[in-house]
Amino acid sequence: MNASDAGRDGGDLGSGIRDPKGADLIAAARAAREHACADFSHFKVGAAIETADGTIVTGCNIENATYGLTVCAERVAMFKALSEGHREFRRMVVVAPPEAPTPPCGACRQILWEFAGDLEIVLANLNGETGRHRLTELLPQPFDARLLNREDDRRR
Ligand code: THU
Repeated sequence: MNASDAGRDGGDLGSGIRDPKGADLIAAARAAREHACADFSHFKVGAAIETADGTIVTGCNIENATYGLTVCAERVAMFKALSEGHREFRRMVVVAPPEAPTPPCGACRQILWEFAGDLEIVLANLNGETGRHRLTELLPQPFDARLLNREDDRRR
């Protein structure tokens, strides 16, 4: 598959604004989705994160027989990117089959917030973009390290 297969019409992500890199991201997430290990749910998800230097790092969901140790596509992509040394991120695309948008689960929102801040999250299905959010919209009152480092609180 090439990038022009990805969005509704290639670089146009449904917004009317051409965005070739966005189409590349959707294509990358769709391709990663094909590697999903989803024998239990049969719900295959792909993710692609764009780093500040323009690198695209992908992930897919990985399930196993315990069910509970499943890791979502979003966290796989983020952990891969971190393990490759990336620390700044522009946006993430998540591709899943339903017609309705499939937003990241709570655990993924937390990890994305801690490592990417107010990331742009583009949701897509197999036909193209279905939604677009800032992470602060999806996780409005985040817990993070800033709350752990208050001297006053630690003495209490
Ligand atoms: N899943 C993801 O990978 N990302 C999401 O945003 C939603 C859910 C996976 C986890 C599990 O493997 C399957 O989809 C069903 O929940």
